[in-house]
Amino acid sequence: MNSSRYFALIPAAGIGARLGADIPKQYMPLAGRPMLTHVLTTFAAASVISHVFVVVSADDGYIGELMAAAPHLQGRVSVLFDGGPSRRESVLNGLQAIRPLVGDDDWMLVHDAARPGLTGGLIEHLIETLQDDPVGGLLALPVVDTLKRSDQQTRVEQTVERTALWAAQTPQMFRYSLLLRALRLADAVTDEAGAVELLGLQPRLVEGSPRNFKVTLPHDVALAEMFLKEKS
Ligand code: C5P
Repeated sequence: MNSSRYFALIPAAGIGARLGADIPKQYMPLAGRPMLTHVLTTFAAASVISHVFVVVSADDGYIGELMAAAPHLQGRVSVLFDGGPSRRESVLNGLQAIRPLVGDDDWMLVHDAARPGLTGGLIEHLIETLQDDPVGGLLALPVVDTLKRSDQQTRVEQTVERTALWAAQTPQMFRYSLLLRALRLADAVTDEAGAVELLGLQPRLVEGSPRNFKVTLPHDVALAEMFLKEKS
């Protein structure tokens, strides 16, 4: 056993343009509560998590109301107004802002605000699998569909071999100092694992759940609500 602690960091400074809603997608109501409230509640309720940090943009006009409506998050969740123009920068800014509060070897679980289907069970499964791992890793799902690469006319150019392909989810779990170094050096990565890979390391893939999908397009909303209603 080691004495490292576990912290959650939720980048929530995006606007979610693909969803086409008139408010940023993390604040969209789902099963009666903003999407972000579901995510924060799941982490706040996980006793293994020491504290939860959420990164919003400097001019965010919604988080105050969200926190006021969720007294169960008081003392468990801190808001950082340090969001950047990309997900990578939001996470990096958040890590830099909490520097005095965390140790180099503490684990950071970085999770999308747009994956409200995460459960306490998945958090525990990820931590149990990775707690002694030298690198860290991420929840992911083996790809089950046959994959096609398209040309510019949406015609099949190639069938892509799916064996050994996984779709990355979050949380992605890495030690604080490693993640900070990786994100500082990386440029155009779309997830934390991508930055760690650029250091020549191999994050471990831990099987997640289809319910932990990212709400991205309008038709995702009804499916997410169905799962959340079942969960509560
Ligand atoms: O847009 P997408 O769904 O890929 O965003 C993934 C996560 O990254 C979301 O939680 C979103 O709020 C966050 N993000 C961010 N800062 C940005 C862009 C996205 O915190 N500039």
